[in-house]
Parts: sequence; structure tokens; C-alpha cells
Amino acid sequence: MVLIDRIKMIRTKFHEIIGTKYPIIQAGMGPFSTNELCVASARNGVLGVISSVGMAPGVVTPKEVERVFGKGEPKELLKDVLYWTYENIKDDPQARFGVNIPVSHDFISPSKEFINAIIEVFEEKPNIKNYLKVIITSAGDPLPWAVNAESKGSNTSYIPIKENLQDIVWCHVCPSVRGAKRAERADVDIIIASGREGGAHCAWSDNSSLVLLPETVKQVRKPVIGTGGFSDGRSLAAALALGAIGIQMGTRFIATKESDFQKKWKENIVKSKETETIVGRGIFGPMRFIRNEMSLKVIDETLKHSSDLYRGLPCYANGEIKALEFEGFKNLIDKTKSAEESLILGGVVCGRINSIPHVKELIESIMKEAEEIIINMQKHVNILPD
Ligand SMILES: Cc1cc2nc3c(=O)[nH]c(=O)nc-3n(C[C@H](O)[C@H](O)[C@H](O)COP(=O)(O)O)c2cc1C
Repeated sequence: MVLIDRIKMIRTKFHEIIGTKYPIIQAGMGPFSTNELCVASARNGVLGVISSVGMAPGVVTPKEVERVFGKGEPKELLKDVLYWTYENIKDDPQARFGVNIPVSHDFISPSKEFINAIIEVFEEKPNIKNYLKVIITSAGDPLPWAVNAESKGSNTSYIPIKENLQDIVWCHVCPSVRGAKRAERADVDIIIASGREGGAHCAWSDNSSLVLLPETVKQVRKPVIGTGGFSDGRSLAAALALGAIGIQMGTRFIATKESDFQKKWKENIVKSKETETIVGRGIFGPMRFIRNEMSLKVIDETLKHSSDLYRGLPCYANGEIKALEFEGFKNLIDKTKSAEESLILGGVVCGRINSIPHVKELIESIMKEAEEIIINMQKHVNILPD
């Protein structure tokens, strides 16, 4: 293999649209705001993302919200985190970050508050626009958030994102080709095709990145980013070969020194094999957990009360599942509780994660490996004349 002595530069449309050095997004991951991880990512050439979901009461209990984020209304909590992030990256003119806002139909009120938080932040501190470049909506229908939503076939119209935040890049996470077509109709800037092997929120039915990503690229005219199962240079190179302009990684970023997640969460990801995740009914829909005592309790309840999930059909979570989720997240924060008693979300890719590096080290190794693979591909793949 020809070794590359310096980091060369993979360039795709990602750079043109989002402006980061590398075509990688650090995924939004509740229940934490991921502000420390976002800063480390943004300062190291990838798009850092703030996660809003845990700032809404009802996702974790109000008491937990207070414990993790301090007291306040969701909008004010997000504004505080955005200002904090800005203060911590503004000396680096290359740093870029975004915000993940779930738009599930049972989350519309906080979703609106979070969009309004960004609108207010842009008015109050216009310079933040040079850094805060992206909104990633997920877990719901993008169409009501489009400009002229009704004329595009939506029954409802909330806050037209691109009308109120003109320079923002709007990405939407799509777990199916059908969803991607709807996002295209909403005129999002980028579609994030989310394979079911990903950690936490996943599709109602099976759909791996290897199938979903190239098919989305084929069927929509928007740029596509792959997510679900990516962790290294080899998988980045594969995503580019499948037609993506870049990747979004969640589970891989949890296991970094700077990430806001607990030590027991990081260690569990490193220790788990690719066979040790499991899907049950969770917040907004199905969720992929690391298999342990607590997640198996959620699976038991899913089988009893939400078994349609295993038939690929949308279904509600009963009170018992919600109570287990609260308990599982509470135990995560509680240092006296073990990993087995905690609800730990993670993707199948935990089977490929063996270390807890610094974000800088991780990103550089991914880019170096991807570049080497792309350059050397023709050395081990021969194309013979007929
Ligand atoms: C712990 C955890 C929390 C997550 N929380 C969110 C969230 O709040 N909103 C969202 O859109 N996606 C969420 N996701 C999904 C990620 O954004 C991302 O799409 C997924 O992790 C990609 O798959 P990977 O884990 O294989 O990299 C979460 C994922 C994990 C692992």
C-alpha cells in the first residue's frame, strides 16, 4: 500500500455546502446537549452538532432536565447552550456547528420553541451565523416546516425554516427512500439517509445503509449524507463510493475523550460486539440499545404491548415502556448504578469500535485511512480487459 505522508484533502459537495474541512457530521445525540463534543468536533474540521431533545420536558423527567441542563424553558435552555458553544469556538474562524431538532408529531411544541430559539439567537448575536450553519431535523415529517408547505401537499404549516433562517443549511434525516422524496419536496438542502443499524432512533422496518444510501442517491436529486454504521476511513470511503457527499456518525463519537457521555456508556460501546444491540420501542419510535438487563426489560414490554414494532408497523409506547426509559436514563446519570441497570443507546457499529481516542486523533485517522483506500483501490482491484 502506498502510504500518504501528509493528510491530503478529500473534497466533496459537503465542503461547498457546509464549509467544514472534512465531510463528516458529529450526530445529534440526546439526552445530553453534546456541547463539549460539538466544540471538539467543530474545532477539528467536522460539523459539530448540539442535541436539543433532552431540553424538552417529557423526554427525560423535568427533574432530570434540571439536573442535566439547569432550570429553564426549552427555548432558553437551547439559547444558553448555543451561546456557550459560540463563546467556545469563536476564536476559530473555520469552526462550524449545527443543531439537531426532532420534529416528531408528539414533539411539535418543543420543536417550534427550538426553531424560535435559533431565530432569536441570530437576531441577538448576528455574528453567530458565521459558525452556526446547519439545522438537522429528524424523527418526523419535514413538509410542514417548508416554505409554502400547503402548496407542497402538507396539511399543516409550522415555522417555514428557510424563510426565517435564510442562510441556514437545512438537513433532514430520512430512514426510507419514501421519506427522502418527501424531504426533497420540502426542499431541504441535504438528505441524511439513516440506515437501521444506527444507534438510538431507527426506522420502523429494516433498511440497512448499504441498501438505503445508494437507493436514496439514485432516487432523489438532493445531495445525500449516509448515517448508520459508519466509524472509520474504510466506511467513509464506502459511503463516498455509494454516492454520498459525506457521513454522519453517532456511536463512534460517543466513545471519544471529549464526548459528554458517561464513562460507563463509552466503555460499554467499546466492549460490545456487533451482535450485542437490540431494537425496542423508545422515544418517538423504535430505538436501538446495547443489549443489557435494562434494555431487555424494555424489549419484554415492547413484545407485550407494542409488538407491531416487530411486524414493521408503527405503534405507541405504553406507560411501562416510558417509565423504564426514565429509569434507564436516570440510572445512567447516577454513579451508583451499573451499566446493566442503565439504558445505553448505541448502533451495531459498536462491534467495530475498540478505543476511546481524542476527537482530533479520530478524525485524522479516518481521513488518512479513507484517502489511502481511495488512492490504493486500483492496486488490489484489477479491472481486466474482456
Ligand atoms: C445515544 C444516541 C442518541 C441519539 N439521539 C438522537 C437525537 O436526539 N436526535 C436524532 O435525530 N438522532 C439521534 N440519534 C441518532 C444519531 O443522530 C445518528 O443518526 C446515529 O447515531 C447514526 O448511526 P451510528 O450510531 O451507527 O453512527 C442518537 C444516536 C445515539 C447513539
